[in-house]
Amino acid sequence: MKLVLKSPLDMHLHLRDADMLKIVAPLSAESFSAAIIMPNLIPPVSTKEAVQGYRKRIKEAIGGEKFEPLMTLFFRTEYDYEFLEEIKEDIAAIKLYPAGITTNSEEGIDNFSLDALAPVLESMSELGIPLCVHGETNGFVMDREAEFIPIYERLAKRFKNLKIIMEHITTKDAVEALDRYENLYATITLHHLYITLDDVAGGLLKPHLFCKPIAKRPEDRMALRRVAFSAHPKVMFGSDSAPHPREKKEAPGCAAGVFTAPIALQALAQIFHEAGVLENLQKFVSDNAQNIYKIKPPEKEVVLLYEDFEVPQSYSDVVPMFAGEKLKWRIESVL
Ligand code: DOR
Ligand code: ZN
Repeated sequence: MKLVLKSPLDMHLHLRDADMLKIVAPLSAESFSAAIIMPNLIPPVSTKEAVQGYRKRIKEAIGGEKFEPLMTLFFRTEYDYEFLEEIKEDIAAIKLYPAGITTNSEEGIDNFSLDALAPVLESMSELGIPLCVHGETNGFVMDREAEFIPIYERLAKRFKNLKIIMEHITTKDAVEALDRYENLYATITLHHLYITLDDVAGGLLKPHLFCKPIAKRPEDRMALRRVAFSAHPKVMFGSDSAPHPREKKEAPGCAAGVFTAPIALQALAQIFHEAGVLENLQKFVSDNAQNIYKIKPPEKEVVLLYEDFEVPQSYSDVVPMFAGEKLKWRIESVL
């Protein structure tokens, strides 16, 4: 059995910088046609020079591979209209992090009052720049996303022309919010389609499955599967593939992030196939995102075969999800 995916897109990706960038960027560029690149470097990507410089380093890291890095800017309340107008051509979106919520987000936002955010969000609406949000409060870890929903609602109601992307949703609450507001969209990761908190901490602790937002309950996973498997037009695949070196994961203070970029399409094919909805994968992994972001990515065809693929134990010193396990689909060729 064979599956052809046209221009697969990863709408939420961490590529890091320097040596790590050189390891992971080629792995995404090999099988994806474009990706939304997260700006949580140290320091965060928040100037035109930083965006252009980072894009150039990504391009260098992937060599001749056909792959479009869709750049993002780290949200700051200080940006003015002129700056945003000028940077608009260089970015696909702006990413908002609550301060301290995850890796390298210390310079994020700690005041979610609409008055504090309004000037930048109004400019973004006017300029048609989408807003990507890491939607978690600093409450109890299992409740953080649900507690953030009222903030999404306030934003969606006040800025009706702003496209708001709820990144890496993990809960039934977020899935339900999607249909209440026309301007809310969402990305869903591979790992949140596969795992619940039980897989992370129900038996021996699995540091390579530890991420933010933490995986939730079976009913949450079911809600995510329902919208992903039906290729709901407001959801897109965003891996949130977040590489950390092994010593940062297998450590007393484990860094958050699951590394999935090189195994994502194979594992997506497997789970969509098992659910009997393989025909919907194209929309989930490309078409929906093209419609939502209004982008035309480079043409690429990824041919997958229903044959075993043994996931490597590691890529350099980064351990992927399913390390050493067998997946049921493999990539045969990329045209
Ligand atoms: O698990 C995560 N890792 N979640 C995030 O939001 C950030 C990411 C990272 O950059 O490591
Ligand atoms: Zn992320």
